[in-house]
Amino acid sequence: MKEIIRADHSGFCFGVRQAIDKAEKAADQCQGSIYSCGSLIHNKLVTEKLEKKGIQVIKSPDEAEIGSTVIVRSHGEGKQFYDIAEHRSLKLVDATCPFVARIHDLVRTAREKGKNILIVGDKNHPEVCGINGWCGDSAIIVNSAEEAARIEEDDLFVVAQTTIRSSVFDEVLEALEKSGKTFSVTNTICNATANRQKSCMETAKKAELMLVLGDTQSSNTKKLYDISKKYCTNTHFVENIKDLPLKEVEKCNRIGVAAGASTPECLIKEVIANMSENTLENNNEMNSMDDLMD
Ligand code: F3S
Repeated sequence: MKEIIRADHSGFCFGVRQAIDKAEKAADQCQGSIYSCGSLIHNKLVTEKLEKKGIQVIKSPDEAEIGSTVIVRSHGEGKQFYDIAEHRSLKLVDATCPFVARIHDLVRTAREKGKNILIVGDKNHPEVCGINGWCGDSAIIVNSAEEAARIEEDDLFVVAQTTIRSSVFDEVLEALEKSGKTFSVTNTICNATANRQKSCMETAKKAELMLVLGDTQSSNTKKLYDISKKYCTNTHFVENIKDLPLKEVEKCNRIGVAAGASTPECLIKEVIANMSENTLENNNEMNSMDDLMD
């Protein structure tokens, strides 16, 4: 008998759930055009459903019709975005996750006090670009202890991208201490991320085979995959049901399942159901947004 162990913390986080709720309500109530700047979350299953509800994805608020509605996604945006939106009379549905909005406030205030802002994260990630936009795009951005050791500035104020691994954040702080920097720090790694990473690790330690569910574009899911691989070399990334490695699954008795904060519940249930039934048949077409949330 196979044992399927689902990580205690897996699937949609509070911020993503809130963003999808707000987007759905806005799409239902909006009379004119409605846009989101970039995909609302990094999950194709979800964004395709939202597009069917009329939400068009654009790259910049300059592309939105004057006076139309634009959803600000959970990753947040920089100050410049809000300035353009005001100039173009856009109606904003602000779905910035409150934990990200807090980082915007922190870096803005620290910058006003003359601190050098250091963001630990991926310089290309939209959340990091948005945070940087609240300190005049002046932030130093590092993603490793090696990069931190090369920083020349002093009097730093350090924050983290909400989804980075806590071990990376700790290593960066250690490197700053070693190089004698003066710095203050607010650990802004989100609990939802830390909880998912911890329960993914615990599940991977027990499993013969691990499935990490989510979109290949989702940075938090990719990090879960890396963590899982460390403790269970037999780890597989499952973006949709077709990726389920059923032959491998058949050989193992303890199968762990972890899912990123942007992974819809329907995919998690579908994967577990398919393994339980021991078949790859997929008749569970998703028909409504509720299917994504259930
Ligand atoms: Fe917000 Fe944390 Fe999710 S920052 S978007 S609740 S991962």
